[in-house]
Amino acid sequence: MSNDNTAQLTPTAGEREALLSPVELGALHLSNRIVMAPMTRNRAHPDGVPTDIMVDYYAARAEAGLIVAEGTWPSVTGQAYCRQPGIETQAHIAGWRAVTDAVHARSGLIVLQVMHAGRIGSRHIKPEGVETVAPSAIQAAGEVFTDAAGMQPYDEPRALNREEVQAVVEEHRQAALNAREAGFDGVELHVTSGYLPMQFLCSGTNQRTDEYGGSIANRVRFVVECLEAMANAIGADRVALRVNPGNTFNDTQDDDPEASHRELVRQASTLGLAYLHMMSSPLPELDAFALGKAYFPDRLILNNSFDPDSATHAVAEGQGAAVSFARHFIANPDLVRRIRDDLPLSKFNRKTLYTPGATGYSDYPRADIDQG
Ligand SMILES: Cc1cc2nc3c(=O)[nH]c(=O)nc-3n(C[C@H](O)[C@H](O)[C@H](O)COP(=O)(O)O)c2cc1C
Repeated sequence: MSNDNTAQLTPTAGEREALLSPVELGALHLSNRIVMAPMTRNRAHPDGVPTDIMVDYYAARAEAGLIVAEGTWPSVTGQAYCRQPGIETQAHIAGWRAVTDAVHARSGLIVLQVMHAGRIGSRHIKPEGVETVAPSAIQAAGEVFTDAAGMQPYDEPRALNREEVQAVVEEHRQAALNAREAGFDGVELHVTSGYLPMQFLCSGTNQRTDEYGGSIANRVRFVVECLEAMANAIGADRVALRVNPGNTFNDTQDDDPEASHRELVRQASTLGLAYLHMMSSPLPELDAFALGKAYFPDRLILNNSFDPDSATHAVAEGQGAAVSFARHFIANPDLVRRIRDDLPLSKFNRKTLYTPGATGYSDYPRADIDQG
């Protein structure tokens, strides 16, 4: 499957019905198979506490079978971006509680994506004295936008020692507990886009010589330990994994992405997780959906560049249990209804993706208002 998942054929009503039908993924009972993919939108307070406009934004999208809320740091060491939310403090938990209550009041389902950014960090973003850490002391190429000082290079990270690796695993366990306390129905571990778990997984960012580095079995260990810790804390059937084999975002490089992801997905499949969230690979020779299907035959969520028709075909053909949309949810809060009623989709404004405030975030109208 290539990265282009746009449909060639118009689906039948029966096929559309399959996409709109309920499905169980572990402890999660989705009312339809249209999932909102996680999207960093940088609308939290500077200290990572969710804002009122985040309540409006997620509540407006509650008709999705499942919302995966944006990548959220388990500890401030793992913060990547300005105004990115956290799930570390009581204030974070209370802020998120307003979001999950609003989604549940509309009969929605919402899990939190836990995202430790590792070396993708800047001292201009995190509070003074908070370090940037990684499996190995290898600086990422590239720059990040900071509210304080504009574009800045990523920090030179310090390599975590073995005890510190265990402490970060423990942070993931606590993040899962905090997410449940905040009312989330579960958590999804972010293992894509070159953040900390992917830094452990990939050979280019992991040059450790202990049991967390070297062989694929060793590089997979940190991610599996995080999943196990989260599963022990809140139940495996409320914990999920997101991967994107071959992703090179954030200066990520792996000698054999197919092999490392296969081993990770294989081990994850033994844990009884809620689902695997699989993005199609940028590598044409790597069929990520087939890989996912082999290990998560009934609990696979597909992602990347789907449109309503291609998503309908994918579910009708049994390629996955559900399909997630990211960008289509930005300007179409009522995406499920638009798909059901075959209404046109609105386009989003790129300029307001990450800017503070409601504009271009929680103010996109529903289709009925759209059409006057
Ligand atoms: C604005 C924006 C923010 C994103 N943030 C995240 C994120 O926090 N975590 C994540 O796993 N993926 C993130 N992604 C990737 C999306 O979840 C998704 O995989 C990607 O956009 C492809 O799906 P689509 O074609 O339906 O948009 C982001 C994408 C966009 C456009």
